[in-house]
Amino acid sequence: VLPYRLKKTVVMVGMMGAGKTAVGRAVAAKLGVPFLDSDAEIEAAANLSVPEIFERDGEAFFRKRESEVIARLLTTTHGILSTGGGAFLAEANRKLISEKGVSIWLNADLDLLWSRVKHKDTRPLLRTADPKATLTAIYNDRVPLYRQADLSVACDPGLTIDAMADRVIDTL
Ligand code: S3P
Repeated sequence: VLPYRLKKTVVMVGMMGAGKTAVGRAVAAKLGVPFLDSDAEIEAAANLSVPEIFERDGEAFFRKRESEVIARLLTTTHGILSTGGGAFLAEANRKLISEKGVSIWLNADLDLLWSRVKHKDTRPLLRTADPKATLTAIYNDRVPLYRQADLSVACDPGLTIDAMADRVIDTL
């Protein structure tokens, strides 16, 4: 029996490095429902990576595509939808997600996020002179928005993806 909240698509929100994609994929596998990923959909449609899209077309263009993809996925398929960290910024996205889905915030603290993103070069927003300061500023701006999610789970540093997926399922 599926958790009752799976009558709606479960939307994973939170900062880059929180584990939205890995945990979302594991939750979908455990529940036997489709896994959807807005960044991956945008990349496939553009045939470019997220950093390439930011570089070529800019962040505003990416955000437009992101809103379109989320709206489409929320109206076509039920499952687990992992979004990019910025997907919860636009009020229109938050409204649509709350109407058509159930949002769950993967709440990880800054130290954990930084430890996960610092060695990677896949986040265009962190290509700054001081990426740690940038991450901190983004975190401080966004936490009030993520708090508006319907549900939240704490990401403890020692937890495996599998254990985090169980924690998400218990929360639904
Ligand atoms: C972004 C997060 C990224 C990706 C893009 C912008 C953000 O996704 O959508 O680089 O604004 O936080 P992840 O959260 O999966 O890294």
